[in-house]
Amino acid sequence: MKALIVNGSHRQNSESARVARVLQDHFLPAHFTDIGLHDLGEMDLPFWDEGVWNGDPEWEFKLEKLRKDQYEADALIFVCPEWNGMATPRLKNYFLLGDEGGLEDKPALIVAVSAGLGGAYVVSELRSSSYKNTKLCYIPDHLIIRDVSNMLTTAPLFSDDPIADRCRYSVGRLAVYAQALSVVRVPLNEPRSYPYGM
Ligand SMILES: Cc1cc2nc3c(=O)[nH]c(=O)nc-3n(C[C@H](O)[C@H](O)[C@H](O)COP(=O)(O)O)c2cc1C
Repeated sequence: MKALIVNGSHRQNSESARVARVLQDHFLPAHFTDIGLHDLGEMDLPFWDEGVWNGDPEWEFKLEKLRKDQYEADALIFVCPEWNGMATPRLKNYFLLGDEGGLEDKPALIVAVSAGLGGAYVVSELRSSSYKNTKLCYIPDHLIIRDVSNMLTTAPLFSDDPIADRCRYSVGRLAVYAQALSVVRVPLNEPRSYPYGM
């Protein structure tokens, strides 16, 4: 099975990028044979404009690999910092660009990140507003990595790390959902009904 991690922070050397790499290197390999990363801090992904709908060749070029990765993924992990009590603008942009079907009926794990005691707003925002057109299926478990600079820093054993066991558990649950939801997905050659939800 393939997993795709999305790092929503667009800060240089962000903690979210570090957390994404820790998940990629230490927790996902137990369940997924292929693990991709879309790092929104490094990808050249402009903000949505009308050219996306009009099939602008520049956009088609920019989105080709992104969409291929999304279609091939069996599960998604969204690592996102809380910024001013919100998910980041580039992650919201990623969802605007991701309504073509590649994320549809795919299970997704939310990993919210905070330097302090925040993070809950990211969970609430993603659960309420990013699934309608993408048709992502957020699993009931989520992770909130608070005090992030002191968490997940003791690889590979992560001794006495309170969040490491939660990561292991949630990634395991994600993998079970990935198996289970594979039977729900509409075959690629069938037209999508009601792509914009209600
Ligand atoms: C523009 C901005 C706004 C922020 N707002 C919040 C916030 O509302 N709540 C919070 O817990 N942390 C906030 N932080 C601090 C982040 O928790 C901190 O930067 C942490 O390392 C996660 O972000 P990162 O992945 O970009 O490093 C903010 C940081 C930035 C850059």
